Amino acid sequence: MFSLHVYQERRQRLKALMPEKSLAIIAAAAEVIRNRDAEYPFRQSSDFWYLTGFTEPDAVLVIGPGQPDRLFVRPKHPEQEVWTGRRMGPDHVKQRLGIDQGYPLEALDTELKTLLCEIAWVEYPFGCQTSTAIVDQAIKAKGLRSRRSDLLSHRADLSRHLGQARLIKSRQEIEVMKEAGRISAQGHIAAMQACEPGMTEDQLASVVEHQFRMDGSPSIAYQTIVGGGDNACILHYVDRTDRLRSGDLVLIDAGCEVFGYAGDITRTFPVNGSFTNAQAELYDLVLSAQSEAIAQMVVGKSIKLFHETAVRRLTEGLIELNIIEGPLELALEDKRYLPYYMHGTGHFLGLDVHDVGAYEHEGQPVELAEGMVITCEPGLYISLSSDAPARYRGIGIRIEDDVLITGHGPEVLTAKVPKERAEIEALMRG
Ligand code: GLY
Ligand code: MN
Ligand code: MN
Repeated sequence: MFSLHVYQERRQRLKALMPEKSLAIIAAAAEVIRNRDAEYPFRQSSDFWYLTGFTEPDAVLVIGPGQPDRLFVRPKHPEQEVWTGRRMGPDHVKQRLGIDQGYPLEALDTELKTLLCEIAWVEYPFGCQTSTAIVDQAIKAKGLRSRRSDLLSHRADLSRHLGQARLIKSRQEIEVMKEAGRISAQGHIAAMQACEPGMTEDQLASVVEHQFRMDGSPSIAYQTIVGGGDNACILHYVDRTDRLRSGDLVLIDAGCEVFGYAGDITRTFPVNGSFTNAQAELYDLVLSAQSEAIAQMVVGKSIKLFHETAVRRLTEGLIELNIIEGPLELALEDKRYLPYYMHGTGHFLGLDVHDVGAYEHEGQPVELAEGMVITCEPGLYISLSSDAPARYRGIGIRIEDDVLITGHGPEVLTAKVPKERAEIEALMRG
């Protein structure tokens, strides 16, 4: 957790963007039952975490310009805490979180009724089901009848402000993201060192995740993808049931979380430690597309440019390898690369792996700005069922790094894990 002052400042900045006489309601995530008494691992809502640093479920933050900040939390309950863990309780809200007033969750309805009588606008993240349900219920409450239609037409999506705030990372956030990048890289290095033909995809995933934990990350940022051979052509392949075969490549897309901030790395390497010629030709093409794309990740350039650069390089290479037909400009115009490269080249990264923030403003792509963190992840996916020359079929390759946009050029936060073929082969030889 950052110092309390960081969260106070974030709330302050948010309130400064809200209209007068408005109130923002942001709910924590709820626990989700897996079956009977077992829950899915709890992950705090990113918006709520960003504004409070509080990691318990079932809490609600209520803030507004000119108002004290209020946090509603689960009350202390010694008997339940024996079963489900410690709770902070409302009495510690001010001292531990620096939030002006702490309340038990049961007080939310009554307090909201009073507060909603006095305000003109109610703001909440429209995409958050719990926040939406709280606002809907509060507006429907008895005693608010005369204000109901007014409030219903004066709801605003807080996500527009939160997205902008979370998009540009502060110095402290960058430090944490560097750590997420460093630990994520260690997981990939461990996998390259441990990989052997005959292991299952899931066993290799466990090597990556074990290293994350041993290095101090409590959690993965998303389901680890490990796909051998043709499975690498399924972009979000999470089955991990097959055995890895000598002569195939394996694609690992895995990242850990540090204080909620994600790392997101993909590496592709030969299961037996040596690239075949066909694999090497495709691999070097993807690597060159990534390196040309990263060179475009510069302050002031359009956010579309690095994707366009990767697509141009990949298309050029696919023509050279006789996988698609040229000439280049026509192939680009007809998007002939699409059967082999069907995703974007990057996304914002932060508390969410596909982080918030606008890619366009008034219909135009935004310019890259200092403090953005964006992935750069070109790939080629030549599935067994494709029309490509037979020697390339069953090969999926993606190379993904996390890039911080700085005033002195792109800074790769995940550079520790090798991606040159010779470096990978050397690491795997041990
Ligand atoms: N790990 C998901 C992605 O790369 O977008
Ligand atoms: Mn990614
Ligand atoms: Mn990824």
